[in-house]
Amino acid sequence: MRAIEIRNKYLNFFKNHGHTIIPSAPLIPENDPSVLFNTAGMQPLVPYLLGAKHPLGTRLVDYQKCVRTNDIDEVGDNRHLTYFEMLGNWSLGDYFKEESIQMSFEFLTKELQIPVEKLSVTVFAGDEDCPRDELAAECWKKAGILDGHIYYYGKEDNWWIAGEEGPCGPDTEMFYDTGKEKCGLNCQPSCDCGKYVEIWNNVFMEYFKDKDGKYTKLSQKNVDTGLGLERVTMLLQGKETPFDTELFKPVMDKLQELQRIDFIESRRIVAEHLRSSMMIIADGGKPSNVDRGYVLRRLIRRMVRHINKLQINLDELSTLIDVNVESLKELYPELEDKKVEIKETILEEKNKFIKTIANGEKEFIKEMNKAKEQGKNTIDGKVAFKLYDTYGFPPEITKELANENNMEVDMNKFEELFKVHQEKSRQGSEQKFKGGLAEQNEMTISYHTATHLLNAALKIVLGPDTHQRGSNITVERMRFDFNCDHKMTDEEKKQTEDLINKWIQEGLQVTSEEMKKEEAVKSGAECMFIEKYPEVVTVYSIGTISKELCGGPHVKNTSELGKFKIKKEEASSAGIRRIKAVLEK
Ligand code: ALA
Repeated sequence: MRAIEIRNKYLNFFKNHGHTIIPSAPLIPENDPSVLFNTAGMQPLVPYLLGAKHPLGTRLVDYQKCVRTNDIDEVGDNRHLTYFEMLGNWSLGDYFKEESIQMSFEFLTKELQIPVEKLSVTVFAGDEDCPRDELAAECWKKAGILDGHIYYYGKEDNWWIAGEEGPCGPDTEMFYDTGKEKCGLNCQPSCDCGKYVEIWNNVFMEYFKDKDGKYTKLSQKNVDTGLGLERVTMLLQGKETPFDTELFKPVMDKLQELQRIDFIESRRIVAEHLRSSMMIIADGGKPSNVDRGYVLRRLIRRMVRHINKLQINLDELSTLIDVNVESLKELYPELEDKKVEIKETILEEKNKFIKTIANGEKEFIKEMNKAKEQGKNTIDGKVAFKLYDTYGFPPEITKELANENNMEVDMNKFEELFKVHQEKSRQGSEQKFKGGLAEQNEMTISYHTATHLLNAALKIVLGPDTHQRGSNITVERMRFDFNCDHKMTDEEKKQTEDLINKWIQEGLQVTSEEMKKEEAVKSGAECMFIEKYPEVVTVYSIGTISKELCGGPHVKNTSELGKFKIKKEEASSAGIRRIKAVLEK
């Protein structure tokens, strides 16, 4: 069965069982700044799992495009993927364990025609937070799962939550027996040997875990399920890896045809990262040095490196993209619609990287040989840092190159140096480093000044008790959290923008003076965490409209800022709103 058939069967099966088919949300979460990409089908549905009414009812089904990046370095083996598709069905306070298990059993055995003896399931063994799930086990027996095919495990295997906090609950997982030999007497579904492959997870989401680790019951009992399309496709086709299915085969074959040296791992990395990059770009992603842009940059750059390793001319990238569009457009028509953009983005990033890599790799080899001559098998963190700092050479590539040469990199030292470097360039403005390369440049400095203007404008538009509660700046945008008890109206947003743009046009001087902290507070200077500042502080003023304790740096005059525009206003947490804004220069 082809992947598209499996997807269609799934959607139709649940439609016939009263579910409404909803579209996949974009890979890039629309309302959840806490995650880089959607990592599970439930992510866009969190408000509804928590009790909000979904406009399309209490039974939903979809396919969700997902990217998980924690395993990025594992890609190249026979199973890890960064992009994958999750088929999911939901009960939002509607059916619970019995019906959910019944439907899963029926789908697997009737629609996909998996012989029952190939199926094993696991259920929650119980602990102080939640009792043993005898009901789930009973339901499986009743549905037809064979004796001896039901296993009980604890939270580490049979409890599901996205991250640390949120809706969660015990789950029941379905495993497919590949027919391989048991790896030992104790070989079970929880074993990693490859005999059992997890295909589907039904989470009985009736709890909420708060940030202190406390569990409470949700207002409704939900079911959240996820079935991995790539895995099921692979198993039903009797293939060893997802790379042998039609999802990757055309591009894998093309790579084999073009390569001058044979490295299966590199072919897989190229095929996998190419698909992920294309999907991310099709959903609006752009390479950059921060957050999701940096993930995309890493994917493209790692792919380019492995194309080089296969000794394939990089001009062939365009052909590889064509091959992928052709083979995947039935599943993802957006790849064809966005083909031009995808090509431009990937090729441009490749060109940037070629320059970086050539210089960096040369330098790396020099340093590696030096270390070898000295009888060392570890590359000094200082060297990794120099490669990054001077050559823009990404640390993960230094690590990968070293590993390929049976050497280690002292990453602790690297991190240490990186932190010092970051602290130096920080100069007071808030920065974020999440696997990305934070930087202080004209754009971030401008956003920093705009942050002060926004703080001042909101006090005028929403009232003097409006205060900054957080801020984050990247080269692409600013983010500003503040207290406010309502969603800002369009009128309020416009007033805020107009005020700021008026101040920008007026060309207000930005000045700073040092004074005692006490005096600064008395003079009415705004400050978020007074206790964090030293006794003598710098106060930045913008004309007469803003006065804040701050470490800078700032532009000299507001006329340097360009046009201020609010892109989004949304809830951040209880009583706190968040604005994302840009400066158009
Ligand atoms: N949300 C569950 C998972 O990702 C279904 O496994």
